[in-house]
Amino acid sequence: AAPVDELISGLCATIPDYPKPGIVFKDLTPVFADGAALKAVVDALVEPFRGQFDAVAGVEVRGFLLAAAAAYATGTGVITVRKAGKLPREVVSEDYALEYGNATLELHTTDLPPGSRVLILDDVLATGGTLGAAVRLFERCGVEVTGVGVVLELGELDGRSALKGHRVSSLLRL
Ligand code: PRP
Ligand code: MG
Repeated sequence: AAPVDELISGLCATIPDYPKPGIVFKDLTPVFADGAALKAVVDALVEPFRGQFDAVAGVEVRGFLLAAAAAYATGTGVITVRKAGKLPREVVSEDYALEYGNATLELHTTDLPPGSRVLILDDVLATGGTLGAAVRLFERCGVEVTGVGVVLELGELDGRSALKGHRVSSLLRL
């Protein structure tokens, strides 16, 4: 089998000027649509953190696909970090700046008990605004962030600077 980074780079689609002029959009849906690639990606995301987390969190919306698969594969639960206004019970909220616009992420305060450990997954690390906010949500709830895993890291945008002090694993860096 091809190494996972080659699977990703071979399947990832690049769309210039989407959703706005000047943004080069990386679309990983062809990776998710390919059974062998999806399995390789999920296994590789879990591998560095295996045995070190009690649940897997996904960031709405593309992170959900990875987190559910990783949770199932490891026999852990899945946690949803959602865009504002979607969760019905008490939440913590964190605002963040996106490569294009501003947004808010929320987490139910009681989804994980304090002291538990979570692996956070998303498809892409760009500026790090999204995953930085996700990390802060768990920390505010007393949950230990084992690490952050992404399929694709856009190195030029230096998203790791928003995740200082945390283990960050990316399967492909462009
Ligand atoms: C994209 C991508 C990451 C985030 C990365 O999500 O799926 O979650 O941007 O960007 P950042 O590192 O600069 O924060 P988007 O907000 O477009 O939403 P979606 O996943 O719901 O499509
Ligand atoms: Mg996203």
